[in-house]
Amino acid sequence: MFDDLKESLLRIKEPLLMGEAVWVGAMKIDALFGREPFNENSWPFSFLDIKEKQRARKYRFLEDKLCFITGRFLSKTALSSLVGLPPGCISFGYDSHGKPFVESPGQAKEFYFSISHSAGLVAVAVGYGRLVGIDVESYTRPVDIGAVSKRFLSSEESLAIKEAGDKKQEAFIRTWTLKEAYAKALGVGLGVPFESFGLIVDSRSRIVWAPRPPDSDSWRFFQGTICGDFCLGLCVGDSILNY
Ligand SMILES: CC(C)(COP(=O)(O)OP(=O)(O)OC[C@H]1O[C@@H](n2cnc3c(N)ncnc32)[C@H](O)[C@@H]1OP(=O)(O)O)[C@@H](O)C(=O)NCCC(=O)NCCS
Repeated sequence: MFDDLKESLLRIKEPLLMGEAVWVGAMKIDALFGREPFNENSWPFSFLDIKEKQRARKYRFLEDKLCFITGRFLSKTALSSLVGLPPGCISFGYDSHGKPFVESPGQAKEFYFSISHSAGLVAVAVGYGRLVGIDVESYTRPVDIGAVSKRFLSSEESLAIKEAGDKKQEAFIRTWTLKEAYAKALGVGLGVPFESFGLIVDSRSRIVWAPRPPDSDSWRFFQGTICGDFCLGLCVGDSILNY
């Protein structure tokens, strides 16, 4: 069973981006937990260490709890395949902004990862020696585009979304997942002023800054649709390994 699930990690055997050392995986919580009611004897719960188990118990909503567990399952499985150690050897720490990082073992510390969940789908990106940020959102997620644009989007982004006409919702979700992916790669989450930078998908499907932040040359972006109805935004930083 475990091997089957490993196969559902997208491209874990080969980097998603050739020459970039970035891996991406995604799965629905139903694929991990099936339709049986959750209890702590469910085998994915064993992927959590003591602190993670304590955290999982605090979730009020079952879906949030299962997303949290699935995120640990996906990221630990991916990291364990990449470093060749059992998932139980991988443990995470959290910085002051809540960004998770590999705390041990030593040989996994050069891997950076990012987790995102939305409507029962969980996605993980892992980068070797480079920061990564991932965000997934359902294209049909209800959003008050006007209110969010006013508060969080650059004027260029707001204009591009307005001009998308009946594709407004899709244009918004595409921009939003890219922005979140960048903020998560930086590690400051919503601490970065979201209106101070912009990301637009132009008519030729190119991802362009609008406007550019000062560090824009250090990042690359990728976007795609996964599991039918979900938009995935991925931000990948330059290598930070010192040779
Ligand atoms: C990170 C953040 C953008 C999450 O966005 P979201 O769209 O609501 O949720 P997503 O599902 O895409 O991402 C959630 C994941 O982001 C990760 N995450 C949390 N904080 C993060 C951060 N600062 N940077 C990068 N990733 C972070 C976690 O892995 C989390 O999943 P988990 O709880 O299962 O571990 C948002 O929660 C945020 O801004 N957090 C930062 C809060 C902050 O700056 N606090 C200041 C402390 S003083």
